[in-house]
Amino acid sequence: MTSEIIRTEHVVKTFTVDKKAHSVLKDVNLSIETGEIFGIIGYSGAGKSTLVRCFNGIEKANEGSIFFEGQNIVGLKSRELRAIRRKIGMIFQQFNLMPSRTVFGNIALPLKHSGLSKQQINKRITELLELVDLPDKRDAYPSQLSGGQKQRVAIARALVNHPKILLCDEATSALDPKTTKSILYLLKKLNKELGLTIVVITHEMSVVKEICQKVSVLDKGKIIEHGDVYSVFSNPQQELTRSFIETTSALGSVKALIETQSPVVQLQPGQLLLKISYTTSSVSEPLISYISRTFHVDANIVFGDIQILSGNPLGGLIVILSGQKSAIDRALEYVKQRHVAVEVLNHG
Ligand SMILES: Nc1ncnc2c1ncn2[C@@H]1O[C@H](COP(=O)(O)OP(=O)(O)OP(=O)(O)O)[C@@H](O)[C@H]1O
Ligand SMILES: [Mg+2]
Repeated sequence: MTSEIIRTEHVVKTFTVDKKAHSVLKDVNLSIETGEIFGIIGYSGAGKSTLVRCFNGIEKANEGSIFFEGQNIVGLKSRELRAIRRKIGMIFQQFNLMPSRTVFGNIALPLKHSGLSKQQINKRITELLELVDLPDKRDAYPSQLSGGQKQRVAIARALVNHPKILLCDEATSALDPKTTKSILYLLKKLNKELGLTIVVITHEMSVVKEICQKVSVLDKGKIIEHGDVYSVFSNPQQELTRSFIETTSALGSVKALIETQSPVVQLQPGQLLLKISYTTSSVSEPLISYISRTFHVDANIVFGDIQILSGNPLGGLIVILSGQKSAIDRALEYVKQRHVAVEVLNHG
């Protein structure tokens, strides 16, 4: 059984600067289920941070509703909002730790008026330091920590009140690829072990691919595409989504090879340069050898990029096909019938 933790309906957010109104969120509708890792991707200025700040009421939506566990938080008084905020943890790109406090002091900060005893606070922080794998950094200051360690402290601080959901705003954007992986791995672990719902805001498709189950693409304040990550990656509907996906796939680099007239993609008369890509999760047959044998065409694989996403193959091959025109046509027809997308990139 799944249930909705956050639902937005027709959310509009406008900022007024120098008496001029700027619509930053325009009719945003989305639904986040309890227990999932949900990605929101978009370029800089799309409105991602504004949207998540509306989720915990730091920003007030001008129109529409935002339901947290069924309760509309738009228009709530600050006292009621504070109670809701305790159930929502948040982490940021720049970690936002207090430089004058130790790791312990930073994590303990949200417990200030909690009424917990010193002993209880100690116990909770010891647990959290174990959870984020920093047991020996309890007395260190932020300046003595690496970026990855700082983000682990920020995660521990965000979890101190046992929130139901963790909002991550570009949480790995300041980290190198290896540290990014280790933080994403930690988020996955928290999702699994604590059943924590996680919202990941990012401009990097590789982050979405690594940990999210669902993704919404935000562009100029609107959700332009949404779905489970495999469907969106294998069959993107919008040009913007395609441009994000190309950043994670080597197949995109073929365009540069064509433009620079690289010898690897030079064609003889009659040859076709094709991109063959998976669009469903069911393809596993040896397609290339089959079409060569059956239709008497030659298929030269220039390069390929096939990755496994959610347990299914995703990606494709760049192929030069040669042979009789009628044979090539029949081979292409066959490939299309197998629900494999074929794009003719160039003719000889
Ligand atoms: N407090 C504010 N006052 C006025 N304009 C704002 C305010 N906050 C954000 N904006 C504007 O809203 C738009 C969206 O900003 P937002 O920070 O939500 O984008 P973003 O998608 O998070 O971008 P980035 O990837 O760069 O973090 C931008 O044009 C920004 O200038
Ligand atoms: Mg932002």
